[in-house]
Amino acid sequence: MAETQIAETLPHRAAAAPRGRLLTGDRPTGALHLGHYVGSLENRLRLQDEYECFFLIADYHVLTTGADRTREIAQHVHELLLDYLSVGIDPERSTIYLQSLVPEVAVLHLIFSMLTTVPRLQRVPTLKEVMRDLKLETASLGLLSYPVLQAADILMVRAQVVPVGKDQASHLEVTRELARRFNEMYGPVFPEPETIVGRVPTLVGTDGQAKMSKSLGNAIFLSDDAETVRRKVMGMFTDPTRIHPTDPGHVEGNPVFIYHDAFNKDRAEVEELRERYRAGTVGDVEVKKRLARALNEFLDPIRARRAAWAAAPARLEEIIVEGSRVARREAQETLALCLDAMGMDYFRAARVGV
Ligand code: TRP
Repeated sequence: MAETQIAETLPHRAAAAPRGRLLTGDRPTGALHLGHYVGSLENRLRLQDEYECFFLIADYHVLTTGADRTREIAQHVHELLLDYLSVGIDPERSTIYLQSLVPEVAVLHLIFSMLTTVPRLQRVPTLKEVMRDLKLETASLGLLSYPVLQAADILMVRAQVVPVGKDQASHLEVTRELARRFNEMYGPVFPEPETIVGRVPTLVGTDGQAKMSKSLGNAIFLSDDAETVRRKVMGMFTDPTRIHPTDPGHVEGNPVFIYHDAFNKDRAEVEELRERYRAGTVGDVEVKKRLARALNEFLDPIRARRAAWAAAPARLEEIIVEGSRVARREAQETLALCLDAMGMDYFRAARVGV
């Protein structure tokens, strides 16, 4: 009965050609940067027509490390939505939603929390990294359970593919295990979703450190203006062994060239610079100036879309509210399927929304 109701309220979806489901998302903790673009955003744009896409703003996940800074979340939700829209995520084709507007995810998290163990979650490498970075001696229950909540996000819409940065691969492993475990124990409800990693799985920072990251202060943000980008590029780490512009330089592992490769559309220019750099006939300043220009060309259309969306605040709110309604209907349907499979579908009529 509940399923027919859901189908009736979604005529456009029921009529559409069956497409696979894609879900991914981000925590609203600050602006997205170039690393996010090549790690995941680009795949989202590419797959937007191929899959029925859900893009999640994971505000509950922020609590795992920021329970004392909840008042900052609202602003970050707004920024993240603008980042999504400005890169070209299209709310007409895709569903953008807010995790806390789909409270069913907490119920699924609870069910999944019985299907994994504390030692299993303690082995997730990102947990150790976060504890080290934040100098935590012990993890809260919620932080330990971070990948379980993420699994609930993904499986709540029964997504088959999840485009994420490489650092998320261990979480996706937990997701697949939970799907498998649930299906074995209760019956086939969930797909085992596939991870799709970006063309540059981990982008180096402007300082040459392995990973571009907001907290390391080595990021170029999608929302940076042209002058900020130019300044950051001119200050970039380059070949440390090269003292004079006439010395032969190293392009391998050189962040300036890694960015040229990743973002400069003029392949001939990149090849020419690479040859001249190796030969010692071009200085770092010129290579950087050209990189700044290429990055600003790449960012200009993103900036233009951001400005247009920022001028329509009422529409922004509508996008989240509508998207969350769509996601919530999926969540309720999935939860009903779970409870059915578990033989816990008693008192169904009394289950609000399920
Ligand atoms: N853990 C992800 C990150 O930090 C954010 C996230 C939460 C997510 N839920 C998700 C990503 C579900 C993919 C799918 O980037």
